[in-house]
Amino acid sequence: MNLNSAKKITKAIVEIDHPLFDFRSKEAKINVKWVHMYLKHYVTKKVCQMLDVGCGTGKQSFAMEELGAAVTGIDCSREAIKYANNIKKNIKSDCNFIIGDYTDMPFNKNTFDIAIFPKNIIECSYGEVEKISKEIKKVLKIKGLFVLTMEDGIEKIKREKGYNALKKYQTRTGKFNENIILPNGKKYYYPIYFWTIAYAKYIFSKNFIIERDRKIDSNLHMLVFKKK
Ligand SMILES: C[S@@+](CC[C@H](N)C(=O)[O-])C[C@H]1O[C@@H](n2cnc3c(N)ncnc32)[C@H](O)[C@@H]1O
Repeated sequence: MNLNSAKKITKAIVEIDHPLFDFRSKEAKINVKWVHMYLKHYVTKKVCQMLDVGCGTGKQSFAMEELGAAVTGIDCSREAIKYANNIKKNIKSDCNFIIGDYTDMPFNKNTFDIAIFPKNIIECSYGEVEKISKEIKKVLKIKGLFVLTMEDGIEKIKREKGYNALKKYQTRTGKFNENIILPNGKKYYYPIYFWTIAYAKYIFSKNFIIERDRKIDSNLHMLVFKKK
């Protein structure tokens, strides 16, 4: 999704103030359980530098900090980062939240041991993901790990019986011209893209070696890659 659309939609979503956005809530804690269950054993160093790419309001970042990591989160939305910083202050966290574009990240080469990209890929065009893949490779240290969580597009269509959504599908770009209606009744253009596990593996394998591919709940897959 282009940067301005992403900023606009995230601002509107954050303003709903759903408990899921707030790391302190029960809903958010359940949502980030996967971090404790599946990332703990990757945090092996005394100082493990982790990056949360497209961190939103920071729930995954705070969960990674609980594993003992030094965490940085980046998101293009000023409102999401402000929300994350308010929680940070309240829970006395040391996470570092930065407003920035994940297709052009403001970090030095070889900075992070692990980068995560949770549930964001659906909003990204194929060209954007090529850029993100190069950016993440650049900021990871040698043998650094990249963890992606995502749904598989075919599984999603089958599960949601979303055959109507296919009417909004653009064959040439892989884009669904979706809109979302928020609880306040406002409607926003929300383009999403058709991604399968196999295609994501193929694209990221240009810069990474696939280490692990597992289903972590009924909808979500986790792919773990090592920097080439
Ligand atoms: C689907 S939300 C997921 C947020 C978070 N990862 C989570 O699991 O709660 C996608 C996030 O990516 C951010 N985003 C979209 N495009 C971006 C860009 N080009 N650079 C940085 N962040 C971006 C949005 O602002 C939003 O917070």
